[in-house]
Amino acid sequence: MDKNSKIYVSGHCGMVGSAIVRELKRQGYSNILTRTHKELDLCRQDEVEKFFAMERPEYVFLAAGKVGGIVANQNALADFMYENMILEMNVIHSAWENGCKKLEFLGSSCIYPRMAPQPMKESFLLTSELEKTNEAYALAKISGLKYCEFLNKQYGTDYISVMPTNLYGPNDNYHPTRSHVLPAFIRRFHEAKITGLKEVTCWGDGSPLREFLYVDDLANLCVFLMNNYSGDETVNAGTGIELSIKELSELIARVVGYEGTIKWDASKPNGTPRKLLDISKATALGWTYKTELEDGVRLAYEDFLNNQMRTER
Ligand SMILES: NC(=O)c1ccc[n+]([C@@H]2O[C@H](COP(=O)([O-])OP(=O)(O)OC[C@H]3O[C@@H](n4cnc5c(N)ncnc54)[C@H](OP(=O)(O)O)[C@@H]3O)[C@@H](O)[C@H]2O)c1
Repeated sequence: MDKNSKIYVSGHCGMVGSAIVRELKRQGYSNILTRTHKELDLCRQDEVEKFFAMERPEYVFLAAGKVGGIVANQNALADFMYENMILEMNVIHSAWENGCKKLEFLGSSCIYPRMAPQPMKESFLLTSELEKTNEAYALAKISGLKYCEFLNKQYGTDYISVMPTNLYGPNDNYHPTRSHVLPAFIRRFHEAKITGLKEVTCWGDGSPLREFLYVDDLANLCVFLMNNYSGDETVNAGTGIELSIKELSELIARVVGYEGTIKWDASKPNGTPRKLLDISKATALGWTYKTELEDGVRLAYEDFLNNQMRTER
């Protein structure tokens, strides 16, 4: 990308899209194109076609999507599949039809099989069954990734994809039922501290192992890949470091300053026992994460305190 290339960042109001815009600006890119969901509904094919025909962006980061935690996914399998699939197909297809030089598609580590050996390599895609609770979302993400691959194969495009582990950071979603585990813990422990709750009960037994990447580090990788990577196979984005959900809860309680007891409700589902990405491909390309988990959680909590108005989105 040149510093004045026309770059469209979809989903720029969301956590990932806003981090990509921040990173592009930080690196001196000056011609960044954005539209809010209200201005352009990416599920509307005719509107997307008109937008691309008019603007003809040279580069596209596809960071828009319908995103949610386990409860939101389980309760709306059809919506998660339909909205993500339609949105991706509309954006990728219109980008290609209007001469977009390079597109980067944001997927998720849930595209990998539920019983995949750990850590999960990019080559494990489609080797066995998916996790049922987010199968719809995963299938939509796999379709987006595959559509990029097939455009490359059939038409010689240079469209790539990146698969991040669990993300967190500024502009995260803190909704009580629609958020992911890390922002959900920040909100619950903060509220417990404020209201003087003596104990907080969390789902499961706290044993599952998870990996977390600070979203600004992901954005740095996204820009890096746009400039330095071409290929059909996706690139995993993570830290390569895992901790248990129990350890995570203790870290967050410490950062937030909650001193009550954390209890576990083992009658609630744990989810997959372990989910760790193999990040050797990104490392071999010359990229590595910068933000340690505790530092990142401090920054995320600061952002949460400054922007509590956003927590109901
Ligand atoms: N968060 C994570 O832990 C995580 C992990 C792995 C991968 N990812 C990937 O990163 C991408 C972005 O995630 P995120 O965490 O940034 O989610 P987010 O904060 O919810 O942002 C998604 C953005 O997409 C917009 N959007 C959704 N549907 C749209 C539509 N039909 N038309 C136009 N805009 C639409 C949303 O606008 P509204 O809010 O107005 O609907 C929002 O601004 C996802 O697609 C996912 O693949 C995220």
